[in-house]
Amino acid sequence: MSHKTPDVLDTFGRPLKSLRLSVTDRCNLRCKYCMPEEAYTWLPRETLLSFEEMCALTGFFAELGVDKVRLTGGEPLLRKDLPTLMRMLLENPRIKDLALTTNGMLLAEQAQAFRDAGLHRVTVSLDTLKPERFTALTRRNGHEQVLAGIDAVVRIGFRSLKLDTVAMRGFNDDELVDLIEYGKRVGAEVRFIEYMDVGGATDWSMDKVFSRAAILERLSRRYGPIEPIIEQSSAPAQRFVLPDGATFGIIPSTTAPFCAACDRSRLTADGLWYLCLYAKDGTDLRRPLRAGAPAEEIKSLIRSVWQGRRDRGAEERKELEQIGARGRLVEIDKLRADPHLEMHARGG
Ligand code: GTP
Ligand code: 5AD
Ligand code: SF4
Repeated sequence: MSHKTPDVLDTFGRPLKSLRLSVTDRCNLRCKYCMPEEAYTWLPRETLLSFEEMCALTGFFAELGVDKVRLTGGEPLLRKDLPTLMRMLLENPRIKDLALTTNGMLLAEQAQAFRDAGLHRVTVSLDTLKPERFTALTRRNGHEQVLAGIDAVVRIGFRSLKLDTVAMRGFNDDELVDLIEYGKRVGAEVRFIEYMDVGGATDWSMDKVFSRAAILERLSRRYGPIEPIIEQSSAPAQRFVLPDGATFGIIPSTTAPFCAACDRSRLTADGLWYLCLYAKDGTDLRRPLRAGAPAEEIKSLIRSVWQGRRDRGAEERKELEQIGARGRLVEIDKLRADPHLEMHARGG
């Protein structure tokens, strides 16, 4: 007989479901929407969780209802032996869906090992098809490597491949059609993400946000009528279908946040647990784990923190926008002092 664990619900009735596991805060790119600064403070090495520690914590989450895990960074492929971690996580039968978000730079050489380890789904960030724009955006070379990484994933075949594009006015808003066509060619679903003013996005301004409305307007000029796909989902992307049947997604986190359905939380590489992309503080799970606290104690900590969750960060930012009071989320000196406030530490 199987007993389904009852969902652990937060103050708005949102279940604890999807866990984003950041395996490193380091990155080999410097995307302007994420890491625009010259210098960064990194998490101290000795604080980084081992694979065993990550699996132990993930196991507690899984017993409380988490069945989806996404590996993120920084750039997760910078962490050594990732296939080992994948195997270890998948030993837990409660984990039904294991996904990876990557910038693709090191993907070509590792994709087969990920497939062999059992990874289900891959999301690659792809903001432009133009190499010189890639270099301008990321301040590194490597566009070809990213495309090779996507090719490898397509060739090997995973449960799904998504391509994430942060749509930025005046930067890549003229490439949306080309990106959709590229996605069709490789058999990947493209998702356009509104530029968000998360911690670390110190270059953000509202006029650089290419909104869902603008994206749909631009695409329908080329493709004709675009229909929304009606589906029940906690995923941040709203999906649409083009007249030729091709689908794509929009993640309108800035103009139409999905906080009401948000079932995700994030564990940083050093074991701090954040309930929202915009949260200022997290819960330290590394300390009780390393102190040898019993499983039940850590689980009840997780349960009670989730039950008190009131986070709706993106909606609050939008409300501030509407009354003309949307300042910086976090000042630069605070970002320097606490790297956990950065998007690259808590996994995009
Ligand atoms: P699946 O639904 O499992 O495919 O995952 P996903 O859609 O969360 O995939 P991914 O990790 O690629 O996330 C897509 C983008 O959504 C991220 O890069 C962020 O820009 C945005 N995003 C992810 N998590 C959050 C969140 O907690 N809040 C908000 N507002 N945006 C988020
Ligand atoms: N706005 C929107 N998305 C962002 N990401 C990082 N920073 C931002 C931002 N300011 C997301 C992108 C990238 C992923 C790793 O994190 O989708 O592809
Ligand atoms: Fe770019 Fe991702 Fe690295 Fe941020 S963490 S700089 S979005 S590749």
